[in-house]
Amino acid sequence: TNYREKYRAQYHFTPPAKWMNDPNGMVYYDGEYHLFYQHHPDGTTWGPMHWGHAISTDLIHWEHRPIALKPDGNGAIFSGSAVVDWEDTSGLFDGKPGLIAIFTHADVYPGSNRTRQRQSLAYSSDRGRTWTMYAGNPVLVNEDIADFRDPKVFWHETATEKYWVMILAAGDRVHIYTSPNLIEWSFASEFGASEGSHDGVWECPDLIQLPVEGKSGAAKWVMIVSIGDNAEFQEGSRTQYFVGQFDGHAFTNEASPDTVLWLDHGRDNYAGVTWSDVSKADGSKLFIGWMSNWKYANLTPTVEWRSAMTLPRALYLREGASGIRLVQEPVSEVRQLRLPDRQWQETVIGPNHNLLSGVEGDCYELSCDIDLGEAAEVGFKLRKSEKEETVVGYDARSRSLFVDRSRSGKIDFHSEFPCKHGIQAALPGGRLKLRLFIDQSSIEVFANDGEVVITDQIFPDATSTGMELYVIGGEAKVVALALYPMKSIYS
Ligand code: FRU
Repeated sequence: TNYREKYRAQYHFTPPAKWMNDPNGMVYYDGEYHLFYQHHPDGTTWGPMHWGHAISTDLIHWEHRPIALKPDGNGAIFSGSAVVDWEDTSGLFDGKPGLIAIFTHADVYPGSNRTRQRQSLAYSSDRGRTWTMYAGNPVLVNEDIADFRDPKVFWHETATEKYWVMILAAGDRVHIYTSPNLIEWSFASEFGASEGSHDGVWECPDLIQLPVEGKSGAAKWVMIVSIGDNAEFQEGSRTQYFVGQFDGHAFTNEASPDTVLWLDHGRDNYAGVTWSDVSKADGSKLFIGWMSNWKYANLTPTVEWRSAMTLPRALYLREGASGIRLVQEPVSEVRQLRLPDRQWQETVIGPNHNLLSGVEGDCYELSCDIDLGEAAEVGFKLRKSEKEETVVGYDARSRSLFVDRSRSGKIDFHSEFPCKHGIQAALPGGRLKLRLFIDQSSIEVFANDGEVVITDQIFPDATSTGMELYVIGGEAKVVALALYPMKSIYS
């Protein structure tokens, strides 16, 4: 692998070879970030799942490690989480801290075709280098629920009690369990059968406490729930979240049950969850998602490997006119990849003037602050050539931010891949403030300081490197624009 293959991401995580889906088991321990992932080591499409593994000290440069968890010849290792068992509550580490992975073992009931999903443990006493299956597996079963998977575990400690909490997907809802030792689990509550979106089966939940920006002591709990592909919905698989309270046993949604909040307004951010055991001074949590969509994940045009993760992102909350909403920002470590930039300031742009004419790039960050003025639409055409372009724009008439990838490059592998989609978003002060991240096969748009996010895969030709800043229906003013070419993580 030279990591320079066609479409290979140059600053997003990709598996060295073969298939990848959900991020799994993210945990920070002893100065190292661990990232495991759903992996089929023998093919570039989904198959018997293993946990691939990589380690990083900066969330950007990853050292690929041998496969961490393999099925024992029958079934598969589905998604799950990992924690540091600091107090050796499990008794597996001789009184010292160690790492425990909690995952779904998926197989069939003996002598039948009926699928079975059970929660099991694996542990590591050597900083995640080698893993041993717990002899008493499985630790949590439920014979009545077919879709019973993706356990996410965290330590809950208050003045009076401390224990482990597990949230997992149980068909059309989540279940919450508690445990003193990660081995014996008691049912605590369930949530969601009649809340939020049920466009597909619930998967990969997470439950985290997040600070509200500018309001110390006003933390809220956020439940993240991914929704599996359902062919009737053009969006395919996507992720919703709920904001509310968690009392140690049950979660309550503060919005009305029919409110649906989407974590991302693009097509390619799925099954994302947060890192365990990271404590940031500001209380934010670290998130990463799988940058694909079950609708076409098995068909994307890469050859040696398939799919990438989103940029790692910091999550927190912000209170706005419509309530408390999730905010996502690329982690600050991403800035270390910036190469010397080009800047433009205080420049009026009109319909026949492309400020970016002659500027080229394939991997870069673009940040802008544009005063829309009288313009009806302003935006960027990126990864552009005569035949291709990916458009990111703001339509002032419909007040919507959009990505149009219908001419973005290779699009014919699925009929619904070429599309334009977006979200209504008011622009504070009439100013379009964006941070855009372009890599060989993706675009991530962070608008209004991380409040609105659009993540999409694109497959432009290597020669499509042009850029255009366009305006329709009047003049606009570039208050500030900066282009940072990004250094490859392989250079
Ligand atoms: C989500 C998911 C999980 C499951 C895994 C299997 O993308 O369907 O629910 O554990 O993928 O690979």
